[in-house]
Amino acid sequence: MLRKYSYLPIVLMFSIYVVLGSIGGCSNNGGGEPTPTPTPSPPPVSDVLGAVFIDMGDEPVSCDDPIWDVAEEISVTTTTVDAGMLYGDGQLNMSGTLGGTNDFNSGNPANLKLTALYTLGSGEIFIKASWDDGIFNLDRRRALYNGPADPDKMDDPEGWTSQLNDDKIGLAFEIDPGTSSEFGTFDDVGCAAVCHNVGGEGLDMRPETGKADIWHWKTSRSEPVAYVNDQFADPVGGRQTDAGVSIESRNRAGGSNRGGPMLIWDGTEQIISFGPRIGEMLDPAFILLDGHLLDVEAEGRDADIGEVIYQASCAACHGVDGEGGIGPALDTIKYGRTSDAELDALIAAGTHPGAGAYDALGDEDKADLRLRIDGFWGVPGYYLKMPSGSAADVTTISALNYSEDGINSLTPITVAQAPDFNEYLNRYKFQQSGHCVVMIRDLETGFDDDTQFDTSQTYPFGVALMDNDGKNHIGKTKLTLEFLLP
Ligand code: HEC
Repeated sequence: MLRKYSYLPIVLMFSIYVVLGSIGGCSNNGGGEPTPTPTPSPPPVSDVLGAVFIDMGDEPVSCDDPIWDVAEEISVTTTTVDAGMLYGDGQLNMSGTLGGTNDFNSGNPANLKLTALYTLGSGEIFIKASWDDGIFNLDRRRALYNGPADPDKMDDPEGWTSQLNDDKIGLAFEIDPGTSSEFGTFDDVGCAAVCHNVGGEGLDMRPETGKADIWHWKTSRSEPVAYVNDQFADPVGGRQTDAGVSIESRNRAGGSNRGGPMLIWDGTEQIISFGPRIGEMLDPAFILLDGHLLDVEAEGRDADIGEVIYQASCAACHGVDGEGGIGPALDTIKYGRTSDAELDALIAAGTHPGAGAYDALGDEDKADLRLRIDGFWGVPGYYLKMPSGSAADVTTISALNYSEDGINSLTPITVAQAPDFNEYLNRYKFQQSGHCVVMIRDLETGFDDDTQFDTSQTYPFGVALMDNDGKNHIGKTKLTLEFLLP
């Protein structure tokens, strides 16, 4: 079958990063100083993160808040924690950190830095993490119809597949004393004590004894609503979301990574109803929000039927892969922001040369055709909910903006990124200098799926970074958090 996708030679990967510009993020020499300052020397490498006491009312409101200067920022040396892990059938181009540090940030250093603050009256902890990552990945398991192949996998890309991945940081603390795995105890080896080789199928976050608290920040599935996915790992369930309503749900029909979307955007404004991003509107081209969705699985829509109709009645003018021709391209971001009803009106418009062919179809065929057209730009692989209960304990601050204006202000990457090196996918990935995120939680939550922080104690913890990946990661398995006396 005809394919528009092209693969760049692997050798080009070594020149990717030289062209990347910088946007947003958290820069050390920003903050509006009146005169240019020399490049600051990197903070000291340390395994001890000392949280500094601040007064209530001085809580940081951004990554650049001057209050961070009262605490010592530390550099964290990161190494490959997990590499070489691929996803199962139908999941393509999801392993950007496949080669560990060789792939993370295109092989450039992560330069992870951490700073911590705490308050006593309101009893909160603030952990700031910044790291270098020249590409903002904000997609995960996007449903694409006839999407690109994955050079690392034999999977057939025809029909629906689940493609791409997001960027993440994870922190892991011990909940139950004595949490351990075959690698040792949490006290000795940090979060490696949560890693367990399950049935020889690779490492899983599932301690053999005890329980660990996991703060899992994700560019596509937690930051858009400004919460961290608050999880825990135990021997029975492995890694799972804390009690309450979880932020993220998988959007796939038939429970299959080849099933296409279960839900599509219904055309209503996706305005966040509470939490740190209250009032912000999410761009449906990248983020779907519960309450603003149409259930196409329940309607029984079938994109494979739509594909047959498309190739017979539309492809001659719009291209086999929707790339355009006599008629405009149908694989652009515009279609991520066009509701089903709007799409119907565009195709049925009296001036449209294809309107006659469309009008001759029955309603079900029309609906199948529209779902197939959704598969050109693709449909987000998850939908978000506003979390509640223990799942809503950790909130965030970052400079990321997921509105249409925010996404429009980003610049797509120009040189394709691993693992696919596929230029078609560049439209879903944007230039940046790195990530900066502040994670905020009450010192004590009272929930048994969280670590409770007592400021007279020290806490071993681990940190993991993922770049366009969710399995392979780099990081540091054991650091120590301590609370410095006021
Ligand atoms: C004979 C050529 C031709 C055929 C066949 C055709 N189209 Fe079009 N289509 C066009 C042209 C030209 C335009 C732009 C002008 C317009 O909208 O009237 C267009 C516009 C569109 C648009 C709106 C694009 C935009 O950005 O505003 C959609 C959606 C679309 N076509 C879908 C379809 C579908 C689905 C079919 C198959 C049922 C189809 N077209 C068949 C030529 C064609």
